[in-house]
Amino acid sequence: MKKTLLVNASPHLKGSTDRAFNLVLEKWEKAEYIVLRDRKIIPCIGCQTCAKAESRGRCIFEDKDEVKAIFDSLAQREKLVFFSPIYFYHLPSLFKGFIDRAQSFYMLNPAFLPVKKAKAVLLAGRPKGEKLFEGARLTLKYFLQIFGYEVEVLGLRGVDGPEDLDAHKEQEILDFVQSW
Ligand SMILES: Cc1cc2nc3c(=O)[nH]c(=O)nc-3n(C[C@H](O)[C@H](O)[C@H](O)COP(=O)(O)O)c2cc1C
Repeated sequence: MKKTLLVNASPHLKGSTDRAFNLVLEKWEKAEYIVLRDRKIIPCIGCQTCAKAESRGRCIFEDKDEVKAIFDSLAQREKLVFFSPIYFYHLPSLFKGFIDRAQSFYMLNPAFLPVKKAKAVLLAGRPKGEKLFEGARLTLKYFLQIFGYEVEVLGLRGVDGPEDLDAHKEQEILDFVQSW
């Protein structure tokens, strides 16, 4: 297993997130990657089965999709880099549905201590907006704590399509992911 994992969390094929993700993947041969939209992910339905003592944190969907395997893979890395667009001031539902499933891991081990570092590249169409990345940043912070990571976010504004990732923005992404 490689030490670095890149996670593409955009539901959109060939959009701006794909462009940013591929840019890093090409430069970073030592990384493995996961594209969430290509994996089977059933969103959390809040049934609370994982919270019952006899369940020991087990999710009712554990054998029905790939989420447990992906979480296990995330937990074992030294470096994680996420790529996601902003939809309605937050992470897209594909990514959020996946994150909500971490509740079963939280039930097992709520006493976390972040010792490793994760990064997230977030792309948003609006050129302005003080709190454009705030909801996503908080969600990523508390999600990744469960697996022992603290997260640093690069939010890029004014990116509605791959063509908006000019040379300056591309360099910003590469500098961000390479400065560990
Ligand atoms: C459903 C939806 C909601 C969006 N909401 C926002 C938003 O709240 N703020 C913003 O700046 N851009 C918003 N956008 C624009 C996207 O953030 C932007 O186009 C991004 O580059 C899309 O990345 P993708 O091609 O990987 O999907 C939204 C786009 C979609 C499709």
